[in-house]
Amino acid sequence: MKAFLNGKFVEKNEKLITLENRGLTFGDGLFEVLRVKDGHIFFFEDHLLRMKSSASFFGIPFPYSLDEIKNRAHELISLNRINDGELYIELTRGVDTNREHRYPPRSTQTTFFMLAIPLREINPENWKRGAAVFSFPDLRHKLCEHKTINLLPNVMAKNFAYERGGYEALMYRENSKGKYITEGGSSNYFLVKNCTVITPEIDNILPGITRSKVIKLLKESGIEVVERRVYLEEFLSADEVFLVSTVSMVMPVRRIDDREFKAPGEITLKAMELYRDFMDKE
Ligand code: PDD
Repeated sequence: MKAFLNGKFVEKNEKLITLENRGLTFGDGLFEVLRVKDGHIFFFEDHLLRMKSSASFFGIPFPYSLDEIKNRAHELISLNRINDGELYIELTRGVDTNREHRYPPRSTQTTFFMLAIPLREINPENWKRGAAVFSFPDLRHKLCEHKTINLLPNVMAKNFAYERGGYEALMYRENSKGKYITEGGSSNYFLVKNCTVITPEIDNILPGITRSKVIKLLKESGIEVVERRVYLEEFLSADEVFLVSTVSMVMPVRRIDDREFKAPGEITLKAMELYRDFMDKE
């Protein structure tokens, strides 16, 4: 299997990364996960523009044009014969032998790589009967609107859920009114209450590309969608809950901690169908 690294196609299992890469030593980098199906890359521009805008925020030079990345990505997908899969893209600030935290004064060559791999295995029962999710504190910093590779709190949160037989974490922060939901370890959440769909506003969470597409599709079909602060209590007393991401698409939730839900509920089914139809048409 091949990978694309700094301008070249290489063997994926070759050891090519220098140990002093700032991605390894500082988590100084960004990533994107894109869905690939039958030769099509979904939301290519949205993902790459999100990465480019974060790169500019963190002062990481962006090494290629979007067209060039797209062409190389398609080549990689066909070299690896990926029909249904994921394109993983990572950009780091590159190698710095000084191990100084500050941005290197002389510009280093960034590290940019892409992997095209088959879709990860997900139990299809999660879509048919709903996923179990577990609440966990959101222990992250204030840069969660950027898709950085600093994922230790997400890893802890998802591992907490996996250890309990769950699929995803439901992360929360606290204010004087109680626990409010931010997002999952790698997904965004929605609830349905009295036929209105409610989702946490973009306030130190990732502006998910699936999230924004699902909001648009639901609104176009006449369903009211509200983006605001949402508390854990509201999730626990919702009529329906679902989560979304590039990989999970729209997935019903059948359980949060000890609370069980009817899954998939009517509006969740509608969102699943709208998203599936959109993907089939793309
Ligand atoms: N995760 N929130 C977080 C923290 C994420 O890492 C992701 C994506 C999402 C959903 O975003 P999008 O709809 O743009 O995929 C929300 C990817 C899929 C991953 O880490 O595998």
